[in-house]
Amino acid sequence: MTTNKDADWKAIEDRYEASTYARYPVVFERGEGIYLFDTDGKRYTDLYGGHCVAILGHSPKPVTDAIHRQAGQLMFYSNVVYNPARARASERLVEMAPDGFDRVFFCNSGTEANENAIKIAWKITGRTKLVSTLGGWHGRTLASLSVTHAPKLREPFQFALPDVSFVTFGDASALREHLITNPDTAAFILEPIQSINGCNTAADDYFRQVRSICDEFGVILIFDEIQTGVGRTGAFSYCEHTGMKPDLITLAKSLGSGFPIGAVLMPERIGSQLVHGDLGSTFAGGMLASAACEATLKEIADNNLIERAPLIYDALSAALKDSPVTLSGKGCLIGLKLPVESRPVVRELFSRGWITGTSDVANVMRIMPPIITPTEIITEFAKELNDVLSS
Ligand SMILES: Cc1ncc(COP(=O)(O)O)c(C=O)c1O
Repeated sequence: MTTNKDADWKAIEDRYEASTYARYPVVFERGEGIYLFDTDGKRYTDLYGGHCVAILGHSPKPVTDAIHRQAGQLMFYSNVVYNPARARASERLVEMAPDGFDRVFFCNSGTEANENAIKIAWKITGRTKLVSTLGGWHGRTLASLSVTHAPKLREPFQFALPDVSFVTFGDASALREHLITNPDTAAFILEPIQSINGCNTAADDYFRQVRSICDEFGVILIFDEIQTGVGRTGAFSYCEHTGMKPDLITLAKSLGSGFPIGAVLMPERIGSQLVHGDLGSTFAGGMLASAACEATLKEIADNNLIERAPLIYDALSAALKDSPVTLSGKGCLIGLKLPVESRPVVRELFSRGWITGTSDVANVMRIMPPIITPTEIITEFAKELNDVLSS
């Protein structure tokens, strides 16, 4: 570990990097499980999971060991060759995915997973129109940004993909009405829990209706599970809660415990229509990413960690039962609706050593705790939150 307290890391980053991120005034140097440590050695409890990424906590040993081993063996070769690490990652991912998702396309991030899912939908349907949801969030590259509702992000680049519409999340009839007048639609993309939009959920029946509407109009249904996937909500894929299956599932964030990786899961009937050259990327399915992915999935499976997700939600719910806070979301993707604006609360919690996050809904804060978080820590957090709210 290298610590140079004299160097002003903040000033260096501010000086040399494009200023596209708002940052907390903190320098994290080390992570261990649910904790992060700044350069002064102050400990923070990370209930934000490095932005919904650190599902196993920070620097989990089985994953760092796998990366070290793989780095010493073969760090990288592209997809023009076969490789055991990629083979193991794809096999394990398909084994853990819901039945019928028999094929995977690896990529490097969430936005790329959505870009590739959109390309697949265009290819399969021969159509170009896309539908997304009001409040939906899918990424920053051009196709994913075009289906991201957030006007402040999308509008400066709104000419990227012109054939995009937005319908109300949770309202199946709004989707049907839209498709009646736009039957030439390729895909409907949605997050099963709208995270940035305040951990907004919808009834299981909504998803079943969406499924049958997409079937009726021949529209590819894309579940953006970049936040909900890999067990975070108490099932590997959110669709397992709903009694329906989308056509494509996109994953990233938790999939490599922090090592960049994304994936599109698809059934054979779609996979078999893709041919050499349809999709591709130099780094996709790289050896280190594959090793991190396989180790992450193995750790989750071997320790039945998916079962922990609802325990964490229930612990928070119980600890806040007498408070004015109401919860939304599922498992380890939780919105907390506060009686006040969330931003100052998140800031105060941060100064007390708790990392949480805001959302696009002013009074909803979010936590995406690692799935390994002890329930006692969740109870302790609830006490701290109540204390902040009452002060
Ligand atoms: C639901 C959802 N989809 C897509 C993305 C984009 O993922 P990435 O930042 O890895 O490109 C995000 C990122 O926050 C997300 O939350």
